[in-house]
Amino acid sequence: MTTTPYLGHGIGLRTKHFEHLLEHPPHGVDWFEIISENFFDPGGRPWIVLDRVRETCPIVMHGVSLGIGNTDPLDPNHLQSLKTLKERIQPAWISDHLCWGAFGGHNSHDLLPLPYTEEAIRHIVPRIAQVQDFLGTQLLLENVSSYVTFQESEMEEWDFLREIAERADCKILLDVNNIYVSAFNHGFKVEQYLNAIPVGRVGQFHLAGHTNHGDYILDTHIGPVIEDVWDVYRKALDRFGPISALVEWDEAIPPFEEVVEEVTRSKAIEEAWRAQQEQTPLEKDQESHHAAA
Ligand SMILES: [Fe+2]
Repeated sequence: MTTTPYLGHGIGLRTKHFEHLLEHPPHGVDWFEIISENFFDPGGRPWIVLDRVRETCPIVMHGVSLGIGNTDPLDPNHLQSLKTLKERIQPAWISDHLCWGAFGGHNSHDLLPLPYTEEAIRHIVPRIAQVQDFLGTQLLLENVSSYVTFQESEMEEWDFLREIAERADCKILLDVNNIYVSAFNHGFKVEQYLNAIPVGRVGQFHLAGHTNHGDYILDTHIGPVIEDVWDVYRKALDRFGPISALVEWDEAIPPFEEVVEEVTRSKAIEEAWRAQQEQTPLEKDQESHHAAA
């Protein structure tokens, strides 16, 4: 298992902010995540912006249509496009989702959850090996939000994710908001999920807003990160330590500075966590007395 570098706190590179980024340096942001598929064709304004931000910030490639859980064979053209992009921009790492989204050549353009079965694990692990061998790098796979479960599932989502990551020797992009969303929708405790994921397997965190419909939550990447999700982030820091974190905001995207406010929050939470780690047992005891008073 390799170590994923620590990059600090980043955001997704989005068209809405191109104008801003062409005129200003990306203050307050340590790194950017691009949607890999949006940069398969070189040239044009997106590449001008990408080349500009690459001058000062590391870039990470985040894919949405690898289809690691599809039953169709992996698309060689897609893999080649990923490799070409990797060679061109030298990303800090490459990620995609642990999901399926296409069948028989028809793409749903959704990140669909998988049945948590041994059969699915045995199907996916060699496909990850194929991708990692072809790209010459370890892949990070992200847990997706889900709204339904399969009757066929034989294990919990966290056991499925852990088994795949361990057997394929890939890393995990742990989406903290997705854990919160799925925990709400399916009625499990976030701690159950976090505690089942091996420390050292997680290479990146995602943080995002969502839409609460009362009896279910939709993973919409809209609005600021809610307090409860920041709490899950604190718990994730307790378990995994400081890991590169990224704020996703993909619906009704506000001006750059407003997204950076979320990054500032995520930085502040990590700094508070680090400060707490450096406290002596006596200081921690005094602080808990203060909090209880
Ligand atoms: Fe995510």
